[in-house]
Amino acid sequence: MTDAASPVQLNSQTLPPPLLAGRDFLSNLDMTGAELRGVLDTAASMKRGEWRGVKPLSGLSLALVFEKASLRTRTTFDVGMYQLGGHAITLSNTEIGLGQRERVSDVARNLERWVDGIMARVYLQQTLTELADHAAIPVINGLSDMLHPVQLLADYQTIEECLGGAAGRRVVYIGDGNNLANSHIHMAVLTGADVTIVTPVGYEPNGGVLQGALVRGAKVTLTNDLSAIDGADVLYTDVWISMGQEDQADIRRRAFRGYQVTPAMLDRLAPQGIFLHCLPAHYGEETVPEATEHPKSRVFDQAENRLHAQKALLYHLMGGMQPRW
Ligand code: CP
Ligand code: NVA
Repeated sequence: MTDAASPVQLNSQTLPPPLLAGRDFLSNLDMTGAELRGVLDTAASMKRGEWRGVKPLSGLSLALVFEKASLRTRTTFDVGMYQLGGHAITLSNTEIGLGQRERVSDVARNLERWVDGIMARVYLQQTLTELADHAAIPVINGLSDMLHPVQLLADYQTIEECLGGAAGRRVVYIGDGNNLANSHIHMAVLTGADVTIVTPVGYEPNGGVLQGALVRGAKVTLTNDLSAIDGADVLYTDVWISMGQEDQADIRRRAFRGYQVTPAMLDRLAPQGIFLHCLPAHYGEETVPEATEHPKSRVFDQAENRLHAQKALLYHLMGGMQPRW
């Protein structure tokens, strides 16, 4: 029997087979529920220290392309590649001018000649599709205006750690029907979680994402009613003003008034309930410091899990690749 104090030590002979070899990861729905299970198991194994010293991405490089700011995504992909024996190169948009200095397709056709994967944080989901269409190497969505799939891997790792599993758990997302809300709906499809999205009128998540999930039998509810948080297993929020929406700040602050996650709101969760936030927090808007410091908050464990979950993703996408040099 093993526990956190005596982890199994894996070596290059005992690694699990890469489940997503050579694929793109532009959406959580780019993997099946079974594949997600495998990725989260790998993430938990990595967190237990079972991969220490194993370098399955030795000789491989990942380009990190950013049209927007980042702390967690940039740091965890860079450190993750290092820990797996690979290398990351960060390219800011002032350097490469994606779609302005150079066509997106040409950026893809250059990068694929030098690196083995691309992680991109962009405005338009279409930019990711274009990168993926023109690069014969894995492309990973590091956040678009539509989706934030790598975040949700860490979120569900955290939910599993805290609650023992996600199926049937009441996950309530409150705030803007944005990239995070859309990706939560995708996770309802993959995990069987019972997801409720609570937004003000006019700020609902993407209709196509919702319909697609409902057609696949996902348990997803949209409401404007805050009573949905009563007895929830997970309460999740995100900023009211996402990157690129700064010109709507005043109108959004007015629209979202009353949807702020406070300690009093956390007291309404189930006894085992937890509070998650992808961060960064805009304190005084969607939440307050007393909520992220509340005993039910797991936001910093969640941030830590960005590293473990993305290392697992990188392994399953790139673990079968041979260095080309
Ligand atoms: N949650 C998240 O993606 O954080 P960053 O914007 O700092 O990368
Ligand atoms: N919805 C936020 C998430 C940041 C991680 C944004 O898009 O800015």
